[in-house]
Amino acid sequence: MSQAPTREPVYLKDYRPPAFLTPEIELDFVLEPEATLVTSRQTFRRNPKGEGRELVLFGENQDLLALTLNGAPLPPERWRKESDRIVLLDPPDEFTLEVRSRIDPAANTALMGLYISNGVFCTQCEPEGFRRITYFQDRPDVMARYRVRIEADRSACPVLLSNGNPIDRGDLPGGRHWALWEDPFPKPSYLFALVAGDLACLEDEFTTRSGRKVQLRLYSEAANIGQCHHALASLKKAMKWDEDRYGLEYDLDLFQIVAVNDFNFGAMENKGLNIFNTSATLARADTSTDFDFMNVERVIAHEYFHNWTGDRVTCRDWFQLTLKEGLTVFRDQQFSADMHSPGVKRIGDVVFIRDVQFAEDAGPLAHPIRPDRYIEINNFYTATVYQKGAEVIRMLHTLLGEETYRKGIDLYFQRHDGQAVTCEDFVQAMADASGRDLGQFMRWYSQAGTPELEVRRRFDPDRQALTLEIAQRTPPTPGQEEKLPFHIPIRMGLIGRDGTPRRLQLEGENEPKGTERVLELTEPAQRFTFIGLEGGEPVPSLLRGFSAPVKLDAGYSDDELAHLMAHDTDDFVRWDAGQRLASNVLLALVGDHAAGRAPSTLDRRLIDAFAKSLDRAGEDPAFAARMLSLPSSSYLGQQMQVIDVEGIRFALDLARRELGRSLHGAWLAAYRANTDEGPFSIDTAAIARRSLKNLALAYLAYARDEEGQALVRTQYARADNMTDCLSALRLITETGMPESEAALASFYEKWEKEPLVVNKWFSLQAMIEDEAAPERVEHLMAHPAFTWSNPNRVRALLGSFAMMNLVGFHRRDGAGYRLLTDKVLELDRRNPQVAARLLSALGRWRRFDEHRQSLMRAELERVVATPGLSRDSYEIASKSLA
Ligand code: TRP
Ligand code: ZN
Repeated sequence: MSQAPTREPVYLKDYRPPAFLTPEIELDFVLEPEATLVTSRQTFRRNPKGEGRELVLFGENQDLLALTLNGAPLPPERWRKESDRIVLLDPPDEFTLEVRSRIDPAANTALMGLYISNGVFCTQCEPEGFRRITYFQDRPDVMARYRVRIEADRSACPVLLSNGNPIDRGDLPGGRHWALWEDPFPKPSYLFALVAGDLACLEDEFTTRSGRKVQLRLYSEAANIGQCHHALASLKKAMKWDEDRYGLEYDLDLFQIVAVNDFNFGAMENKGLNIFNTSATLARADTSTDFDFMNVERVIAHEYFHNWTGDRVTCRDWFQLTLKEGLTVFRDQQFSADMHSPGVKRIGDVVFIRDVQFAEDAGPLAHPIRPDRYIEINNFYTATVYQKGAEVIRMLHTLLGEETYRKGIDLYFQRHDGQAVTCEDFVQAMADASGRDLGQFMRWYSQAGTPELEVRRRFDPDRQALTLEIAQRTPPTPGQEEKLPFHIPIRMGLIGRDGTPRRLQLEGENEPKGTERVLELTEPAQRFTFIGLEGGEPVPSLLRGFSAPVKLDAGYSDDELAHLMAHDTDDFVRWDAGQRLASNVLLALVGDHAAGRAPSTLDRRLIDAFAKSLDRAGEDPAFAARMLSLPSSSYLGQQMQVIDVEGIRFALDLARRELGRSLHGAWLAAYRANTDEGPFSIDTAAIARRSLKNLALAYLAYARDEEGQALVRTQYARADNMTDCLSALRLITETGMPESEAALASFYEKWEKEPLVVNKWFSLQAMIEDEAAPERVEHLMAHPAFTWSNPNRVRALLGSFAMMNLVGFHRRDGAGYRLLTDKVLELDRRNPQVAARLLSALGRWRRFDEHRQSLMRAELERVVATPGLSRDSYEIASKSLA
């Protein structure tokens, strides 16, 4: 049943409390793949804070079979039906409504609502999927207690799950059975979940710090259950961590996780019944990379942490999405930092913010972490709402300090447990706990764009004083021409010429206070003068730990960058100094290339810096691997007026090759020193060594000599884990080694029964940056293993191509753009959410040369003109063109 989607935006300012409260809902499911009967019985009570007489119940993609109010059919004059809702015109102040409808899970290709993944019934209700299950006031500020009865065929669905506690179960004639679940915690409809299927189960137990025993159950298809142990171990770590760091305990006797193949996102925090993408659940050394292992741990923790930040305290409306997502991402970042290396974790998070979020902030889809309008809320599960949202929470943590931040969190839960609240409520708790005025800080919630900081320095040798003048400016974003100054914490220190940290005394202070502090920038420009600086002009170490999501220009000389790389105490600043140095060198190469000069040698400064990092690599291999990685093409592109596709490619190729050649001996030594004999281990130190080893191998391969290629070959043949295997395979294909085709074929043959590994195989080929990429991707779409029904597979091929293959996707003749658009339009009819996300790859068209601009724009225009286009894709394409 398709209906013309409305394209009218929804506005934050139009928020009104719901007309009715729904304290209770009983749901009854009679599951059949093509015709599932859903009966819902809801109690309603007029909301004293509500306005208007009407009650709106949203419902989509279902056949309404019966509607009764207090047991009697509703006469036609008391209600009306529209395409996506029913409206009760003047219902009584208290009543019970029963709705019966029929849905078709087997035909649900959008994967929103109740659908079937590999024979398993499962649900995805966030943000507005519940309305595809029954008619309901489907909005997060309506919180109900759920009682759910599920009936299904016993052999097809031996396992029947929903939120909360199992109450009862029984058999029925005809090979059917049923189960009854009850969730004692009132929750918004987006947290409802149901799973029914033939699933294997891994069981464990966790004892909370107050001594309660919690049953842990992790379900997956039987074939995958052996790959679930890491997820279960991660869950227990997360439960313990949340008690230790946040004082938060789990609140039910049972916690369940189900892994499914087909899922639009990573995972979902449904109360007591998280549903996960297998890609964020399964992990085994031979099939999963170190990245996968870390990712499973992170996502398991993220969804578990939502139990408090999201479920117990939820969002008033979807504009507040960052209230739960920004905070929960910040919490999962803290968790991963505590489990592994904080410095390396932080650098990884910064890379993502810069590569993805900064790019989003600089394009037509820029929005504040709390948008004030949307056409389709599904389009706002973005890097801005999630990752920049986490940066905003991190800034509060930096401004308040750990202890006061914790007081603020405690106060937030004390005030709002069981409520649906706003971002203001959160910041108010922080303000009240700290006694600080966070009024200006709130601008982070309403203004989009990445602030640019410019630092001017003046050293007065007579006064032994260093003045930093820091100015902020935020470029315009769509709909926001003028920006007001932000409240920006700048964590900093001063590094003396001798390499030691200076003590910090600001003008007007009686004595120095430590060697690190947080400056607070609130004005368009501000001056900070440090005095008592014996020993000459120090180098300022600014934005330590990336204390704010900003771009910083401190006018460092190459010598100063080298000084920070060598001597700073902050991992982020050391790494960032290296990235700046590398960017300078690479951007100069791009300039040379554009001017028709094509140098064949690499600036000595970069080689020397790498040599020094390699010398110290043994101190911290994971950090060294970061220091020795070049800035991404996305980050380089952002620093250019016009993104020079060929120039970036030329510069990165040259730098990799020359670094590989000139430091050959050191790479070889690093490769050997970090190769572990003995059994595979997934601990942090082993991961660190593998990361450096495989980076060294890459540079050896980029040098394109016999020795390097022989090492790659050997590693590919002997690898006992997916990290090593995939690193080698990537180098074989990327550098065009003669066995490329054969290696890809043997890899596929070995792994064709493991869907997550097959995704890696598709993705790797989509990312090879050559001219043939569009044809290769098109060809792979005809491969028998390619399917539209699995979002992971679609993303592995099309997503990798559009987002991670600069040269291939942006091929001058526009074949990449055409291919993406053709396929997105095809996908849009099945799964608009995934289609729209892929489409955003065309959004940055204004940043390219005129030729590419017109090609990209033409494709976007073709999208907008397509009849029957989803609201999701319409919003992305039309905003990209605006
Ligand atoms: N709340 C989920 C998370 O971040 C996000 C999510 C899962 C989601 N599935 C979705 C968002 C489907 C939109 C649509 O943890
Ligand atoms: Zn989340």
